Amino acid sequence: MSAIVRTEDLAKAFGSNAVLKGVTLEIPDKKVSAIIGQSGTGKSVLFKTIMGMMKPDRGKVWFKDIELTSLPPGELIAMRRYFGYSFQNAALFDSMTVGENLAFPLREVLRLRDRGEVRNRVAEMLKWIELPGIEAKRPDELSGGMRKRVGVARALIMRPEVLFFDEPTTGLDPVLSETINGLVIRVNKELNLTCVMITHDIPAAFRIADKISFLDQGYIIADGSPKEVVASEHRMVKDFLRISFSELKV
Ligand SMILES: Nc1ncnc2c1ncn2[C@@H]1O[C@H](COP(=O)(O)OP(=O)(O)O)[C@@H](O)[C@H]1O
Ligand SMILES: [Mg+2]
Repeated sequence: MSAIVRTEDLAKAFGSNAVLKGVTLEIPDKKVSAIIGQSGTGKSVLFKTIMGMMKPDRGKVWFKDIELTSLPPGELIAMRRYFGYSFQNAALFDSMTVGENLAFPLREVLRLRDRGEVRNRVAEMLKWIELPGIEAKRPDELSGGMRKRVGVARALIMRPEVLFFDEPTTGLDPVLSETINGLVIRVNKELNLTCVMITHDIPAAFRIADKISFLDQGYIIADGSPKEVVASEHRMVKDFLRISFSELKV
């Protein structure tokens, strides 16, 4: 598996709170990767440092053969078009319609000025998430699951190369969670994009992901195929997986 994104020895602290202490990670191209670990261990911080939204104290991030942390700010911002993200609380703009929400990155980031093209890309994206024709609706008229899908559509409309999902199913009921997990799989298989997700849903991660990385105390302590991670001898990983999987059998 060749890597599309790589990090080397990434470190990030907030005052005396050392969150990432040396994260070396490879995100395989055109696969689904999952980052798991306890809450508050720095999974979201890892995403933000990879995407260049947060500056690491030390370490490097490569997108293909471009080293991002040494780019001048303007060039780093320009690289963001290759990264789409759907954050847990990436709220849609409530004052805009769904169509305006989707058109926003096309106008503001890609600087698309052709109104017909913007309209077509928005319609095409809504069709792809199986919510055709909802351009005129406002986000607060949509259900939670629909809002999530529109959030994913907004990330995809830029035609990024890597899609980052930060806890896409947290707070959703099991049926909606399956819809969103299915959407992640479709993004990977139909659009052939690299997907990286942070998730609390460990059974889903093991079902969907080609590669799993376990973040704990600032380091990746287990990393590999689901089979390899399940076989980890690391105490923390074993305990975490035992608890996560036993919660199933109630
Ligand atoms: N902007 C920030 N300023 C200060 N501390 C932060 C900031 N962002 C995250 N943290 C801290 O970093 C740690 C990891 O946070 P986070 O990456 O959100 O954890 P996770 O996503 O694994 O639940 C937490 O202790 C959090 O309080
Ligand atoms: Mg988080």
